[in-house]
Amino acid sequence: MKVETSVFGRLSNQEEAQVFTLQNSQGITVRLTNLGGTIISILAPDRKGKLEDIVLGFDSVEGYLNPHPYIGTIVGRYANRIGSAKFMLDGTEYKLAQNAGKNHLHGGMKGYDKVLWNSSPYADLDRAGIMMSYHSYDMEEGYPGNLKVDVHFSLNEASELTIEYCATTDKNTYLNLTHHGYFNLNGARNTIYDHEIQINAGAYVETDADLIPTGKIIKLKGGPLDLRKMKSIGTEIVKLENGYDHCYIIDRIKDGPELAAAVYHPSSGRKMELFTTEPAVQFYSSNFLTGLQGKGNFKYRKHLALCLEAQHYPDSPNQPHFPSTLLKPDDIYRQKTIHKFSVE
Ligand code: BGC
Repeated sequence: MKVETSVFGRLSNQEEAQVFTLQNSQGITVRLTNLGGTIISILAPDRKGKLEDIVLGFDSVEGYLNPHPYIGTIVGRYANRIGSAKFMLDGTEYKLAQNAGKNHLHGGMKGYDKVLWNSSPYADLDRAGIMMSYHSYDMEEGYPGNLKVDVHFSLNEASELTIEYCATTDKNTYLNLTHHGYFNLNGARNTIYDHEIQINAGAYVETDADLIPTGKIIKLKGGPLDLRKMKSIGTEIVKLENGYDHCYIIDRIKDGPELAAAVYHPSSGRKMELFTTEPAVQFYSSNFLTGLQGKGNFKYRKHLALCLEAQHYPDSPNQPHFPSTLLKPDDIYRQKTIHKFSVE
């Protein structure tokens, strides 16, 4: 397999962002930049072999430097919301940026989506990839502890795009990393209403009007939120007020990456399955996406794409009964999430 490296553009401090192209012999091509560990494009074939770019993004580095809702980026130090933008840890209150009303979202004003990651591309016989690393300093965006984060992206001949995360800290801290790709398996011409989705989750995290967990876990018993059987997004989404923006708790039957979700586009045959070691997946149907000019002059609008963000539950630092996101100096944070592309 092969990986190619070229220049994507310059940041305001004149640092250079690179773009890496990973390709397999099955027709899958993934382009990534080390600015925010962002996936810029994924070309995938349909039943007839016709290629389409199945993720949203921007043509140039400027598009990613302007404000945008984490399109294709790594998200950290804490993906999703932290209520009232604060938490207590070891008797100290830590205050974070209030960048979603009075709450904190996706790591703050300059999260891991906006930093330049050190990168080393590699390719061998059946895998090509990039090792990215970032040193997040103590109190960066208000979070305690110097954190060393490694994110390893790789594509193989089985058309699996794997994202493996590893992190260590020198002080107790909270950590919740994810990747924030916006997928449309038909190339973002139309909304995702003609897609089907299945999420292997029997429960979800209840949230209030500001999308902060109430603390309750709700068991699914049918209705538009119950996606355990493959369903048409178009048929179900209209039953919801604004669309999907829910943290699904994955039914886990084994250790290691579990099949958490599958998305299918019937007329092209394109399919994506998501396997993860994380306890939850945030299904977000781009409800707040509006007014952005994307790749190839596409106007980005509500419900044009979907995000399946493998992660821990939102606001876990303030919800002691949720699975813990505490990382201690003796621990190693690990996550493995696989996007498997196929045609049916
Ligand atoms: C969240 C949404 C948010 C979006 C863009 C998603 O992960 O669930 O509520 O609007 O990211 O920031």
